Amino acid sequence: MAHHVVEGSGKGRHLLVFESKEPMWAYMVGRFRELSDEAIGEAGRFSAALSGGKTPEGLYLEIARKGQDMAWKSTHIFLVDERFVPFSDERSNFGMIRRTLLDRVPIPGANAHPIETERADPPASAREYEAALRGFFASAEGNIPKFDMILLGLGEDGHTASLFPGLADGCAEKQLVRGVEAAGERVARITLTLPVINRGRTVFFLVTGKGKAEIVRRVVREREPGLPASLVEPEGGALFFVCDRDAASLLEEGAGKARTA
Ligand code: 6PG
Repeated sequence: MAHHVVEGSGKGRHLLVFESKEPMWAYMVGRFRELSDEAIGEAGRFSAALSGGKTPEGLYLEIARKGQDMAWKSTHIFLVDERFVPFSDERSNFGMIRRTLLDRVPIPGANAHPIETERADPPASAREYEAALRGFFASAEGNIPKFDMILLGLGEDGHTASLFPGLADGCAEKQLVRGVEAAGERVARITLTLPVINRGRTVFFLVTGKGKAEIVRRVVREREPGLPASLVEPEGGALFFVCDRDAASLLEEGAGKARTA
């Protein structure tokens, strides 16, 4: 693994580059376990917000395979974002997380916190999830919940969660969850907002494949402000770009702002 510390504030932005997915998943399973132990030791529970998409499927299977002994009774799994389709639809993020992880570990049903997509319309569903977050974190209006761990993906257009370029994050101030309208092929979505993501204690981007190399360069190296993923900068927490060699291939030559730690 090559480890670079990329300029940033707080506990810093780290770039971790792995030869392939196997060691990448092994590292992430280790971090999941470590962050869970830490949070449960301190507060008696561990809260993680997980992304959908294709990239993390293998990781979730690996967490289930290696993590049967983890403290699932004290673990709470939330969604970073959701597509507005039934859970049985193959596009459903919760459906994927349930199949690859939740159905395979001894987690109590009440510790899974899906975003409702079957009853409400997207804005109503966003309000409902926001209320659920406020309830779980006992956070009053004006306070922003702090997840112990947030796992993000990166789209080739620079989106993360369901925060797409050009879509001003523009939430009513302090809005925790928002609906995102359907566009083209894309169904409507519900997503955590940047204030919530940036309050995360430890935030990871998980990125694989050559197809993501250019956007990784634009987000990690250039930090282009028009790309939502560039705006992820946890205030007090740490940010890790966890990439395979292909995804990091345009960062490798010339260390630029990165230095080997
Ligand atoms: C989703 C997401 C989204 C995803 C990226 C990367 O619902 O699609 O949560 O932000 O993480 O689009 O997706 P891939 O991992 O499929 O490339």
